[in-house]
Amino acid sequence: MSDVLTVQGLTVSVRDVALVSDVELTVGPGERVGLIGESGSGKSLTALSVLGLLPEDVLAAGSVRLSGVDHELIGADERRMSRVRGRHLAMVFQEPMTALNPTMRVGDQVAEAMLIHRTRSSRRAARIAAAELLELVQLPGVMRTYPHQLSGGQRQRVVLALALANDPALLICDEPTTALDVTVQAMVLDLIMRGVAARESALLFITHDLAVVATVCQRVLVMYGGRVVESGPVTEVFTRPRHRYTEGLIAASDLESADSGPADVGLATSAPRRLPTIPGNVPPAGQFPDGCVFRNRCAHATETCATLPPWTGTPTQGFACHHPAGASDA
Ligand SMILES: Nc1ncnc2c1ncn2[C@@H]1O[C@H](COP(=O)(O)OP(=O)(O)OP(=O)(O)O)[C@@H](O)[C@H]1O
Ligand code: SF4
Ligand SMILES: [Mg+2]
Repeated sequence: MSDVLTVQGLTVSVRDVALVSDVELTVGPGERVGLIGESGSGKSLTALSVLGLLPEDVLAAGSVRLSGVDHELIGADERRMSRVRGRHLAMVFQEPMTALNPTMRVGDQVAEAMLIHRTRSSRRAARIAAAELLELVQLPGVMRTYPHQLSGGQRQRVVLALALANDPALLICDEPTTALDVTVQAMVLDLIMRGVAARESALLFITHDLAVVATVCQRVLVMYGGRVVESGPVTEVFTRPRHRYTEGLIAASDLESADSGPADVGLATSAPRRLPTIPGNVPPAGQFPDGCVFRNRCAHATETCATLPPWTGTPTQGFACHHPAGASDA
């Protein structure tokens, strides 16, 4: 089956400064793919490009295609994108209030999402479906409640109900649990996983938390300096990283259970583990070194690293490093 999301050669820039370069990314039907990397690595800009939600002065080039949508998403006008968003493509961001209307009861908001895209035949049918969805996210009896009457975790579950309302082919989550109490994080993650599984929706999941990626995702892409530096199955990348940046992340992390695979990283028991620190600072946007973007922080850098490392491997599993970890000559 063909991929749900296909991103090719995505470049995002502001006033000729590249913030994201040459991103290649695919998500298969029902597949759960993670996107990790330090703050400022370009994760959110990549997601916003797919969603057509970049700020006005930020330009995306390249190609973004979504199955079931017969046009290119890069450059599509707002009229077209508003038919895609909330229907084929849905999102959950860190701050739930950005997605909610404070003056509208939550039941009406969820019903409205279905009526706008005409996935229910009548207002009555949409309201029944909305009540069912809110029950699915374990919020029974909130149909007539306003967002401000709910806690952060409850609001985020309303946003999830909204996002799932039209059975999207792809759900994009950008740090969906970062702003929540630790105790509610696991519950929201569990609801996200169940929600996409029940609809066979694909998931693109952005987070700083390696343990969450290990639990939620099958495949992971590692971004740094606006580039994808490594990708592959979570079990491979977290146990045998090849790119020196990924290697640094894993080595500095306390992801002690990564060896035993994703199934063993218990959600309920895991405290949030933020992305570990690697010596040196992430340069500001547009000021990464040319050649390998990581070379000013890399202990393995040589003169060769002043040239852009080519991608080694397949489109779904590989890395871009001249002196990869685990190589016989490294
Ligand atoms: N509108 C903008 N104008 C100029 N630079 C921007 C703009 N939006 C983002 N950037 C810069 O682009 C880079 C990538 O930003 P992005 O938000 O994608 O990072 P991120 O990986 O999501 O980080 P975080 O983990 O902190 O959310 C950052 O250096 C950021 O400062
Ligand atoms: S290409 Fe060179 S600088 Fe970049 S991560 Fe690999 S060894 Fe380090
Ligand atoms: Mg971000």
